[in-house]
Amino acid sequence: MAIYFNSEKKMFTLQTKNTTYQFQADAYGFLLHLYYGPKVEGELDYLLTFADRGFSGNPNDVGADRTYSMDALPQEFPCMGTGDYRSSALAVRDANGAYSCDLRYEGYRILDGKYSLEGLPAVYANPEEAQTLEIYLKDPVTGVRAVLLYGILPELDIITRSVRIQNEGEEEICIEKIASAALDFLYGDLDLITFYGRHAMERNMQRMPVSHGVQMIQSRRGASSHQYNPSMILAERDAAEDTGVCWGMVFVYSGNFRGEVEKDQFNQTRAVLGMSREMFHYPLLPGEEFTAPEVILSCSGQGLNRLSQNYHACIRSHLCRGKYRDQVRPVLVNSWEAAYFNFNCDTILELADAAADLGIEMVVLDDGWFGQRDDDNSGLGDWKVNEKKLGCSLGELAAKINEKGLKFGLWIEPEMVSENSDLYREHPDWVMSIPGRKPVRARNQLVLDFSRKTVRDAVFKQICEVLDHAHVEYIKWDMNRSLFDVYSPEARDQGMVLHKYILGVYDFLEKLLERYPDILLEGCCGGGGRFDAGMLYYAPQIWCSDNTDAVDRIAIQYGTSFIYPASTVGAHVSAVPNHQTGRITDLQTRGVVAMAGTFGYELDLGTLSEKEREIVREQIRRYHRYAPLVQKGDYYRLTDPRRDEAAAWMFVAEDQKEALLNVVRLQNHGNMTAVYVRLKGLRPEGIYEDLKSGRKCSGSALMEAGIPLPLEEGDYRSYQIHLVLREQ
Ligand code: GLA
Repeated sequence: MAIYFNSEKKMFTLQTKNTTYQFQADAYGFLLHLYYGPKVEGELDYLLTFADRGFSGNPNDVGADRTYSMDALPQEFPCMGTGDYRSSALAVRDANGAYSCDLRYEGYRILDGKYSLEGLPAVYANPEEAQTLEIYLKDPVTGVRAVLLYGILPELDIITRSVRIQNEGEEEICIEKIASAALDFLYGDLDLITFYGRHAMERNMQRMPVSHGVQMIQSRRGASSHQYNPSMILAERDAAEDTGVCWGMVFVYSGNFRGEVEKDQFNQTRAVLGMSREMFHYPLLPGEEFTAPEVILSCSGQGLNRLSQNYHACIRSHLCRGKYRDQVRPVLVNSWEAAYFNFNCDTILELADAAADLGIEMVVLDDGWFGQRDDDNSGLGDWKVNEKKLGCSLGELAAKINEKGLKFGLWIEPEMVSENSDLYREHPDWVMSIPGRKPVRARNQLVLDFSRKTVRDAVFKQICEVLDHAHVEYIKWDMNRSLFDVYSPEARDQGMVLHKYILGVYDFLEKLLERYPDILLEGCCGGGGRFDAGMLYYAPQIWCSDNTDAVDRIAIQYGTSFIYPASTVGAHVSAVPNHQTGRITDLQTRGVVAMAGTFGYELDLGTLSEKEREIVREQIRRYHRYAPLVQKGDYYRLTDPRRDEAAAWMFVAEDQKEALLNVVRLQNHGNMTAVYVRLKGLRPEGIYEDLKSGRKCSGSALMEAGIPLPLEEGDYRSYQIHLVLREQ
């Protein structure tokens, strides 16, 4: 059992293996948050303090008690309109246009298993792995009812939250802001960790002190964005990789979002994560409801690495789905950086021959196989195979690739349209554009209005036509611009459009998976512009970044690792000089970096020398040996590549019998100093053998004393050490 209810105090305690979450409906029916942190026993309402605070009002029903203020007390679901001036989780306008909503506790329900959310991605679990708590709140004046949903996965130290807003009143109301989770901290010096970036340089980790005022991350781009990942970590000021308390909030959503962290006048901190309130305005008629996407919470009392591992386990096995969830993914070669738009059937078959010779398992045909698409200015929306360009049908191409023993995969970008396309010429009204205005172009393309079923159905039909006539085993789903010109003729209110758009994308993806359950989906949005937990429900892997430079990738994958498991990180070896940075790195190093994800190649294999081909063959053999560890092992960050001389990370099997250490030396200077790496996660008393050198060391020595890197000259040298437990 994970949920405990004290009926006398109306107190709810959620217990996971190592954490406790507690809140209480107090005498006035307000839901007060009491605690979220490392596991504790007992009732924590004694933590609340009361004082007469100037300019912090008192709810009418507390009478003359001037010490009771919603502006000072910790809230479970802070709602605008109760006298709390801090960042709220909910703002509702009533039929008069007034911001008014005062939610009070009505009741609860405990269920076995984990709730699901219709039309939205969400964590799932077997009935015996999870419990659900529903809390009912109601505002008698507007008739707004809120159902707070909690999913508790005790073994994983995961608590999910979502909320359903129901209009049980007589008149229309409007949701102006809705977050799915808020966390109030009564005290403490906290840091906020977020992941910012740009196209081709996503998820840079930023850690800054939480200070007075509001710190905010958000996306207004219609997708979760390259610019800010929809996730936040709060950490005690002195929390490090292996020590201290930290809390994560991860949004299971692929559209606009907002994360706010506010340190208030009493040095309390509130963190709120949910929908963006910009371009969002969601009216509900009597009887209608709105379900907010889920937030995944986790807390670690053992530092950031453990927090990451909690998220990795949850995302890997309770969010990703499908046939490939637990399978080692095929090693692929993608045609993009190999050929860009310049290919035909013969050149792709040449790529396939080279791939088969090297041990690669799948050829992915990227952009350019459809419509009139010889560059990125035309053809999107016309999902008809360009047989003239290819010189054969897609079915034939796939069959020939299959004959070579390889799988075949395909790139699509269903949400987009080029003005120079048949689809646009026939249906110019299907794009997102504001009446009377010319829409903003990006990559010379426009966005189809996926909030409309007619539009989605037409694209779906075209894509099924392609998939029904060729043996396609993998799809890369791309999305290469941000949204703008948000208007949909079918929407009741334009503030609903961006959310309906994302629901449309999810609906399309769900239908695609239903119809083709054996296809492996890889998400993509100009690389990692929609690398979020929402997409991972449909696609168990996402192209991590358009930047394939090994050194930049170390930083990008480092940031990504705080929340997302390696099994979700699309990573490929590409050519040098690198197409994004011009940097030259060793083929071995490119391999080591790409092996921290779902491994593949993205270069013209025909240009490789015999020596390089031998290296690639060896890399693939190694990847197959390591893949189960990479995909399912516990991930440890051993250094901070932004600061340290070497980037080092490792994977450890759950039973600790095997581990893979990966190191890339980032700095090199004259008269080299020795760099030591200390390992983690091993059995201290175990004896591990380095399979290459045969050297045996105790787990404790490897972890406490570490190992020196070879004193080798050359840029970005890399090392992989495969350790196997020999004696206990
Ligand atoms: C995006 C993707 C690339 C490639 C191109 C094709 O940029 O991230 O990997 O598929 O589109 O146009």
